[in-house]
Amino acid sequence: MSPTRSDAGVAASDPHDGLAVLEARGSTAEAFGIPLAVLAELTHRCPLQCPYCSNPVELDRGGSELTTEEWKKVLTELAQIGVLQIHFSGGEPTARKDLVELVQHASDVGLYSNLITSAVLLTREKLSALADAGLCHVQISFQGNEPMVADRVAGLKNAHEKKLEVARWTRELDLPLTVNAVMHRQNLHQLADIIEMAVDLDADRLEVANVQYYGWALKNRAALMPTLSQIEETSRIVEEAAVRLKGILTIDYVVPDYYALRPKKCMGGWGRQFFNISPAGKVLPCHAAESITGLEFESVRSNHSIAWIWQNSEAFNRYRGTGWMKEPCKSCEFREIDFGGCRCQAFALTGDAGNTDPACTLSPMHEQLFKQAELEAASDNNRFLYRNFSGGTLETGDNHGA
Ligand code: SF4
Ligand code: FES
Repeated sequence: MSPTRSDAGVAASDPHDGLAVLEARGSTAEAFGIPLAVLAELTHRCPLQCPYCSNPVELDRGGSELTTEEWKKVLTELAQIGVLQIHFSGGEPTARKDLVELVQHASDVGLYSNLITSAVLLTREKLSALADAGLCHVQISFQGNEPMVADRVAGLKNAHEKKLEVARWTRELDLPLTVNAVMHRQNLHQLADIIEMAVDLDADRLEVANVQYYGWALKNRAALMPTLSQIEETSRIVEEAAVRLKGILTIDYVVPDYYALRPKKCMGGWGRQFFNISPAGKVLPCHAAESITGLEFESVRSNHSIAWIWQNSEAFNRYRGTGWMKEPCKSCEFREIDFGGCRCQAFALTGDAGNTDPACTLSPMHEQLFKQAELEAASDNNRFLYRNFSGGTLETGDNHGA
């Protein structure tokens, strides 16, 4: 399978999943089960400044973050309503001084915990304490396979060496490791080496994720957009490695939907399989949902339970299922397969989250989007706008010409 313009998005969907069956029977929101895994964004603080960060451009300040006791209450509630896995993420979750205590609490209430980290703030002692507290899995992001590219993308010197060190400690402590590599025009030439690096680090899994363009990545699109031939080469490399490394390394591949024919089933469909909790306690259908203006998101600090928010809140129900759709999605045979693509991307590119995601060829905007992607991919605009709390800082120096 070649996940390029011809088939991306369709291959990732499973029309036989339980929720699709429920929905086909005309179930309402109350029939949707609670997701098994939830993302807890503990903080937006982060020592890295990746230009494609999935956090919103308007970051939550440290002072608005949930307290230790509030997060513990959330974890207890999640376990009580049937959630099985908690992904501790950020920003950088290890920037929270109470992380060991939160992992211990997750463990105490029976949650499987995964730490999604840049790794640069971890010491061996801290990682060991997290393992002792019951941490089950570590996922480390890499920006390249060597410091020159990786440290530049991260906007932090010596970050790459530190990540390698923490990855080795992770395996020494017998924790399973996933390497997460976000790919774009300026690091795709390193993909084959990143795959070998993941094998050398004894990772179980490698997630090769092409940048998804909303928030910070949309601001940096011209500097990040790969060429179509790069994407075709990426697909070839991933397919070859997946066969060669079967049983050694599992490779997950997130395709770039600007070059696809149909959009991805983002988040498994809005309000169907996923929610996350922001640093300030908002319960969100996806990590970028706050970029959609005009939607009110309920907080764990409100009087409502998390289960109530999931089932009944206006924001979750607004784009749940297929009833909200306009044409061309409304009468499209794929509407219960991809659910019209990504609401955040539709909003970012068309100004209306209820429109068809322009990644779809049936969107009136698709052709324009594809042409724009080709144009930007061919440009020599390589300068990053680094992510930070002051709205971003433009890269200086000579590196951006590389
Ligand atoms: Fe999916 Fe809508 Fe495109 Fe049909 S028109 S393939 S439902 S995004
Ligand atoms: Fe929000 Fe796709 S990122 S729905």
